[in-house]
Amino acid sequence: MQTQQYSDERNPVDDEKYDLEEPFKFFRVGEENTGTRDLASTELLSVLPGQHYSIKEKILRLEFEGNAQNAQDAISINLQVDASPGCGGIVWPAAQILSSYLIKKGSGFLHGNRVVELGSGTGLVGLIAAKLGASKVWITDQQPLLGIMQQNLSMNSLQYNCVVTELDWGTSIPTTIPPPDVILAADCVYFEPAFPLLVNTLDALATAGTLILFCYKKRRKADKRFFGMLKKKFAWEEVMDDPNRNIYTRESITLMKLSKLQ
Ligand SMILES: C[S@@+](CC[C@H](N)C(=O)[O-])C[C@H]1O[C@@H](n2cnc3c(N)ncnc32)[C@H](O)[C@@H]1O
Repeated sequence: MQTQQYSDERNPVDDEKYDLEEPFKFFRVGEENTGTRDLASTELLSVLPGQHYSIKEKILRLEFEGNAQNAQDAISINLQVDASPGCGGIVWPAAQILSSYLIKKGSGFLHGNRVVELGSGTGLVGLIAAKLGASKVWITDQQPLLGIMQQNLSMNSLQYNCVVTELDWGTSIPTTIPPPDVILAADCVYFEPAFPLLVNTLDALATAGTLILFCYKKRRKADKRFFGMLKKKFAWEEVMDDPNRNIYTRESITLMKLSKLQ
């Protein structure tokens, strides 16, 4: 029966095997590794920020529009991108969608909040939160990504309210990270052995009052096991007030708001 259920894709046992052999099997990474143009369809590009990529310096400049009421809220950011430390070294569309959403919500949305970004990669989403006036932001990831995050933090001069911290899901939360008001995560569901670890970390960081914005790109049926684990601790709903939603949902990207069950 199971074979029939998964007849159009690998079965879940194979998924697990491939995960262990090659965790990045489900990613498409283009030759230039700019992290965007080679990852997104033309339609999706229409809702992503403007991009300029310097192949020589491996610097990606992203230019986000402001919200409809105030074009002056436009934000630009320079990021070093480099796929060599892992899939997080490039900027994924989900991170740009979450960043665009935060910018569209305006500077009051995160103002004065403590924000933690999980699986931050280049640091994009957390750096945008810092630019938007969060009181303090922790951009976190595994050790190999810390160098690129630190460079991006310095390049954008955000050291006054943002820090880079190693946070490996499933391990204890560093004592330097207090309970945050907001948790942000983009494109963090892709490696099945990490599913329970990510749920544990969300559970350890969040309280019932924490706002969690989680931008998810569906890649395969096995992802539903993540949501099976998540639902024991969290409820979620889709974010409906993003004007770009109709376009990115067609690319299997969903922006969700999670809340911890009491
Ligand atoms: C697809 S990348 C997304 C990066 C970034 N959020 C973006 O959307 O551009 C997934 C990120 O999750 C991080 N990650 C994977 N497993 C992790 C773990 N066990 N602990 C912490 N971070 C992890 C990776 O290092 C990587 O930066």
